[in-house]
Amino acid sequence: MLNIALPKGRLGEKVYDMFEKAGFECPAIKENSRKLIFEKPEKNVRYFWVKPSDVAIYVERGAADIGVAGKDILLEYEPDVFELLDLDIGKCRMAVAAPEGFRDSPSRTLRVATKFSNIAGKYYASKGRDIDIIHLNGSIEIAPILGLSDVIVDIVETGTTLKENNLEVIETVVPISARLIANKSSYRFNSEIIETINEKLFEIKGQ
Ligand code: PRP
Repeated sequence: MLNIALPKGRLGEKVYDMFEKAGFECPAIKENSRKLIFEKPEKNVRYFWVKPSDVAIYVERGAADIGVAGKDILLEYEPDVFELLDLDIGKCRMAVAAPEGFRDSPSRTLRVATKFSNIAGKYYASKGRDIDIIHLNGSIEIAPILGLSDVIVDIVETGTTLKENNLEVIETVVPISARLIANKSSYRFNSEIIETINEKLFEIKGQ
């Protein structure tokens, strides 16, 4: 039985629809319930819903053979997994945003609020810019408004959250989308079924 970790939420539903189209359907998953694990023995698959940011941990440790995680999570936590396919869904970007009209003064340390400390740290290190990272767990947009930080590094999808908080994108760090990932040893032992899924998902993505 192949264990597949799906990111719980709107993205996860799109991901499941792709697996269904790929021929690995498990209709029980669409029933409205609080269950988190669903299996379809005839297809040799077992799906489970986990928090999107936890998918990579399940896959890295082998509790899931494959899963779908955002590129943001893969860049931030750098899990030891195979990244097999860009699914071209869940598209957004990692960006630096600041209050409208913000002017950076390179002579002083830039205060950066973010949930993505590793991504932000590497981004500014590559530019040779000194920063002070303020790690937050959510509502990042508030930090510059209250003077906790100068800028934020966060996910921007439609831009609505920034706009409604009088912030604007000043730099794009990296484009983000959902990726199919595999546990390294599962991939070796179950390469046939994992490659079948990978190829089918490649064929149907964008359809
Ligand atoms: C993300 C991000 C922004 C928002 C951007 O949060 O942190 O707050 O989405 O989306 P927009 O550009 O379409 O307004 P998310 O909703 O994923 O929740 P989180 O804060 O729990 O990560």
